[in-house]
Amino acid sequence: MTNTIPNTFSTVAVLGAGTMGAGIAQVCAQAGSSVVLQDITAEFVQKGLERIRDFLQKGVDKGKTTAEQRDAVLARITTTTDRAGACRQARLVIEAVPEKLELKNGLFRELSAVVSPDCVLASNTSSLSLAKVFAGVQGPARCIGMHFFNPVPLMALLELVRTAATGQATIDAVTAYARLLGKEPILVVDSPGFASSRLGVCLGLEAIRMFESGVASAEDIDKAMVLGYGHPMGPLKLTDLVGLDVRLAIADYLRKELDHPGFQAPELMRRMVAEGKLGKKSGQGFYRW
Ligand code: CAA
Repeated sequence: MTNTIPNTFSTVAVLGAGTMGAGIAQVCAQAGSSVVLQDITAEFVQKGLERIRDFLQKGVDKGKTTAEQRDAVLARITTTTDRAGACRQARLVIEAVPEKLELKNGLFRELSAVVSPDCVLASNTSSLSLAKVFAGVQGPARCIGMHFFNPVPLMALLELVRTAATGQATIDAVTAYARLLGKEPILVVDSPGFASSRLGVCLGLEAIRMFESGVASAEDIDKAMVLGYGHPMGPLKLTDLVGLDVRLAIADYLRKELDHPGFQAPELMRRMVAEGKLGKKSGQGFYRW
């Protein structure tokens, strides 16, 4: 959990303390950065911090982390509900707020006037157009997509997404930081769903259609991919893990942007979301959690 590579991003602000934001804050702190984790209520921030504590404690219980490392990581994380205050000293701001274009764009427009001119602005969006997320933001060359994967501390990939305006210096700095975080970066052009969500969601939707039409049980559809294709987790279980609501929003967006019938969300998925069967976070999805 310590390293010798110089860390350009000594101070990082993470906006949004949900599953992704908490995981991102944790890996940044593990890399040695001082992290300010912000959300709109003290309760959300507290929940995010608890999530980080729990993960680190499990690491200690498993013998993967020492108690000293756990404490050092936690000591590098402070929390706040003050968004502008969180970002004022930051060298890097990573946004992980809900997947709503207006929300993300408004946030970056507001912050680009508050942060230092060389502060890199990054969005963890999993599919939205980054050109739109960063529209009207001061200093578009410092804007980039940093798409992390759930569970953030365990997943090796970091998908970096460049817009037409992203500067090479930004790409270089964020690529070096990705390695510091212990992640393998890939560089993708700003396009609907990037590389990961476009392929991953496509597989997940087809699995739901197969389940809906009775091709096989959820367990057997998942086994087909786990045992037959070597995926770590089947597409239905993964949809439960990510959240049916999250994947439905991505599917609707990709259906519109790519005009491809493969991204048409199955009726079953819409019904399950309407009934609150959102997957792991609600206790029920294709599986009971
Ligand atoms: N601290 C430290 N290490 C830990 C840990 C902790 N709290 N918890 C687990 N680990 C370690 C384990 O010790 C284990 O290490 P070894 O391989 O050295 O033994 C490793 O992490 C794997 O953990 P487990 O054995 O407990 O669990 P697993 O093998 O079942 O793997 C998983 C869990 C990594 C989540 C795996 O199931 C997986 O890769 N699933 C697919 C996840 C995925 O596809 N995520 C992407 C979702 S899409 C997304 O996120 C994008 C989006 O925009 C929504």
